[in-house]
This record gives sequence, C-alpha cells and structure tokens, in this order.
Amino acid sequence: MKVESNKIIKGFSKLSKEGKMEWIVKEYLDNDANAIDFLKSYWHEDPKTQKLHDEFIENTITNFYIPFGVAPNFLINDKVYCVPMAIEESSVVAASAKSASFWLNRGGFKAQVLSKTKIGHVHFAWYGKYERLLEFFNRVKPQLMAGTDELTANMRARGGGILDIQLVNKSDLEPNYYQLLAKFETCDSMGANFINSCLEEFSKIFQAEMEKDALLSQDEKKIQIIMCILSNFTPECIVRSEVSCPVESLVEGTDMSAEKFCEKFEQAIHVAMIEPYRATTHNKGIFNGIDAVVIATGNDFRAVEACGHTYAARDGQYKSLTNVEVKDGIFRFWIDIPMALGTVGGLTKLHPMVNFAHKLLGNPNAEELMMITASTGLAQNFGAIRSLVTTGIQKGHMKMHLLNILNQLGATEEEKTTATKYFKDKVVAHKDVVNYYLDLKGVKTVAELNV
Ligand code: MEV
Repeated sequence: MKVESNKIIKGFSKLSKEGKMEWIVKEYLDNDANAIDFLKSYWHEDPKTQKLHDEFIENTITNFYIPFGVAPNFLINDKVYCVPMAIEESSVVAASAKSASFWLNRGGFKAQVLSKTKIGHVHFAWYGKYERLLEFFNRVKPQLMAGTDELTANMRARGGGILDIQLVNKSDLEPNYYQLLAKFETCDSMGANFINSCLEEFSKIFQAEMEKDALLSQDEKKIQIIMCILSNFTPECIVRSEVSCPVESLVEGTDMSAEKFCEKFEQAIHVAMIEPYRATTHNKGIFNGIDAVVIATGNDFRAVEACGHTYAARDGQYKSLTNVEVKDGIFRFWIDIPMALGTVGGLTKLHPMVNFAHKLLGNPNAEELMMITASTGLAQNFGAIRSLVTTGIQKGHMKMHLLNILNQLGATEEEKTTATKYFKDKVVAHKDVVNYYLDLKGVKTVAELNV
C-alpha cells in the first residue's frame, strides 16, 4: 500500500490555528479558496469567547453548531422546568415538549434519586494466595484512607469523599487478577478526576506498603498494577422517574380506546424487554432525550450512554430501560436509570451555553439534574411509544423533517411557508415534498434547481 506522505504531518498541534487550517486546505481540500473563510464564518465574533472554545480541546479550527432548543412545561416533583436540549434530530424536542404538556395535566413526573455512589478500580495482578493478599489488604486499608487525606479534603468538606475500599478476587475470571474496588460520594461533581486521582494514589500506597510489609515473603511482594480508572458503569448512582394517571385519561387526542391503547403500549414495552433488536431502538429513543439534556448541561453523554446500555444488559440480556404497569385502572410508566451527572466542575461553569442551561433550570444540584434528565428520557420514550402504537412514527417525524428537505432543495422562506401550509394535513413523504417543490418551481428535475 502506498501512503500519500503529504497527508501526514508531525507536530500538527504546534501549528497556529491559521497554520492548521492552511495545511488542511492544502493537503486535503485541493487548496479550496473558500474553505478558510467558510471555517472562519463559524468562529464566534468575540475573540475571547472563541479562544475559550478553542481551548476546550486540541487542534480546534472552528465550531460545530447543533441546535439548542427547549422543551417547556416539564412538571417534575411539582416544579415546572423549561428543559434545555442540544440535539440535531428534528423531532426530538417536539416529542419531549408534547409529552411534557401531556403529563403536565396529569400530575407531571415524580422523580427521586435512589442512590449516588460512584465506583472506581485499581486493577492488578498478584501471584500469591488470595488469603495472604486479603490479610495484607486489611493491614494496609487504613493507610489507603489516610494517605489520600489531602486529596479528599475539599470533597470531604462538601460532604463527600471515599466511602469504602474493598479487595475483590477476580482470579476465577483471569488467573492472578484482583481489584481494589473503591466507592465514592462526589457531591455535585461528576467526579471523574477526583476518583481517578484517588485510585492512582491508592495504587502507589498499595505498592509501597507491599514492598515494606514485614509479613509478606519476597515472592509475595510481586505485584503488577494494570491500571487505575473509574468505572462509567454506576449501578449505585441511580435515578427513577415515573408518570401515572387513570387509564381513561390516556387517550385524549387519539381515536383509540383507552383499553386498546394500554394493551398496545404494554405489548410495545414487553417486546422491548424480550427482543434486543427492538430494545436497542427503544433505548436509543430514550437517549434522544437524555443525551440532549446531558450535552446542553455540559455533562459527558458518552459516559451516560455507556452506563445506561450496560445497565440495560445487567441481567445478561439487553432490555428496555422503561417499565409499564396497568393495575386497578391506573397506568404507570417509569424509568430506572443510572447516570453520573455533575453541576460543578468540568464545562459547567466554563461553556457559556452550558452556564445558560444551568441558569434556565434554576441552577440545580446534581440530584435535581439527574431527575430532570431521567424525566426527559421518559417523556421521549412515552412520546415515541404513543406514536408507534397509534399513528405510526413517520407522521410526526416527517412533519419535523419537512424543513430539512426544503432547505436541501434550496427553498426560500416564502416557499417554505407555502409548503408547510400545503403539507399541514398531509403525511410528509420525501418524494412528495420533492415533487411538490419541483412543481412549485416549474421544473422537472432536482438538477434543474442548481442547488
Ligand atoms: C428515533 O430517533 C427514535 C425512535 O426510533 C425510538 C423508538 O422507536 O422507540 C422513534
């Protein structure tokens, strides 16, 4: 294979921003004369704000916009929120807002944080007998706590810190494999840096104490620290949100009977419990809502997603994260989901839009943000299942997608208004929109539109 050497560079990160853009345009974009202006057109007009964004990551050349929308009318634990959502998918905010309004008149969402413990591990290999390691661990445990005193002082002052450290024997899975499993309370921060720093300190202390220990033989002092890292699977950092109402008040606005609606809704959840193909799409829909709030509030959506999916597979089969129960004439729908969110640290105070999102939510603490986020996921799932078992998903989806299709065709504002009116009471299909627009323009093919 011949590699094009001009497309490879050493020290790219050391180039200035202009230098980086120039190199990319030269080597990857055929010296496109407009490319640099195009990238610059996405820079913030205030150089200070742009610099802030530049410094979030390495090799920033411009900004990448996604819409920041809001879903109003979210009643959660008797408080109304206007929920910020950053997402590109056209129908997500509309679906959340519609579900929020639906539940607003039915008591809203009831949410609670069930627990907030986070977890991290020192993974290591050790070559002696487990009982001997356990004896050593019990001898050294007070030092692990005391040796991290300085690191944990601020967190302890806020009411958090290290909750426990355990030795876990994993040698049945892999010969000589053990863990120090530590549990943490990280208050209003997501806590990744705090946890990782503590774990690295544990590993140093553990190794040093092992070396000094008078009761271990030379052979028993051999240890290989594999790595120290928090786990993004936080099954003990879990939030529940639920909605409920009398069955008969469920079907306003649909032609279906309440009984039929409930039956189909329950079947839909059941399918997502037993069929991983469906469960994946079902949970993806939940994360449409959750990720949008997590991104808008400056949290780590990859961590939240990874955690949710592992939790969905905790019994060995990947399943729905939402549950439904219809009993004594009451429809109850809920989600239990682990998520590690923070309202201090990270980007929360740094990113201007994140800061705004927190203000919009009334500067919630981490628990409140977990409840808002889980409720948005539940709302999103309720909206999706309601559409799927009644009208079908495409009706709402394509309605929201109409503007994207028109924009792709190069429609003017006036044409978009005309088209929106035309499709108001019609099912929007891509081909119909294209044909309608070609007619409007008096041409036969998309090529003739010159877009
Ligand atoms: C689309 O982004 C999400 C849905 O597919 C979710 C679902 O099927 O439950 C509509």
